[in-house]
Amino acid sequence: MIFESLNKEAILSNLSLETKKHICENIVVYETIDSTNEEAKRLLKKNQNTLFGALLLAEHQSAGKGRLGRTFYSPKSSGIYFSFIYKNHTNAKNENAPITLTIAAAVAVRRALQAFNINAKIKWVNDLYLNEKKICGILTEGVFTNSKNIQPAQIDTYIIGIGVNVVEPSEGFPTEIKHIAGSIKSNIDRNVLVAYILNNFLDILKCSNSEIIDEYREHSLVINKVVCVIKPNETYEAKVLSITDKGYLLIELQDGSIEELLSGEVSLKLV
Ligand code: BTN
Repeated sequence: MIFESLNKEAILSNLSLETKKHICENIVVYETIDSTNEEAKRLLKKNQNTLFGALLLAEHQSAGKGRLGRTFYSPKSSGIYFSFIYKNHTNAKNENAPITLTIAAAVAVRRALQAFNINAKIKWVNDLYLNEKKICGILTEGVFTNSKNIQPAQIDTYIIGIGVNVVEPSEGFPTEIKHIAGSIKSNIDRNVLVAYILNNFLDILKCSNSEIIDEYREHSLVINKVVCVIKPNETYEAKVLSITDKGYLLIELQDGSIEELLSGEVSLKLV
């Protein structure tokens, strides 16, 4: 059980000066909400300009969202569930931005956990694992801007949603996810963890794409492993050779052919 609650002051006091500049004190903690990513979208619709750099956190999500239409189980006071609204000043036309940001966020969460001596591995593309269980998921969503200054309209604002299971929920994980979900099982201060993730995220974004990908590869759970590739209409086994500089998964099929997978509609199961 976690006893400290998520709060703005505690997060602010652990942010680096650099991060504080980006967050601009727009930190909101909800006791309960459907999904912090959905709330971010609603807030952006109402007021696009003031919310860049906002951080929305929840103690509980009633409809936490995962990738590919899945849910993210977000029980009360067991984890951290937050969304960061990020405006891509430098790289607005980069079509690869969602995957780059997801990869940067995964590296940031890994680094933040490492500061507490927790050595998590990254499962392509958006999950972190500890002791073969998923302890973190990341969902990056692009938002169209309708700013009059940008023609044609393009995505330059991203909602980076991060969920980390800190402790096992008191009632345990639901049966459907019991085999896969885990927690870091630590009494670390969640406010400090949130701040460390953000500090690392903004730090990492100063690195080149290839530096970020190198770190991501270094901590990959899947490179050199045989995985089950799950696509909407087919499922097959393959060996993961590497992750390309663009963040695509390079796999070798059983017939020896090589394929590059984009994260869009693909998920992986460890075998
Ligand atoms: C996944 O496992 O596929 C991604 C999970 C992302 C969960 C986080 S929790 C905070 C934010 N709000 C959501 O509804 N989802 C993300």
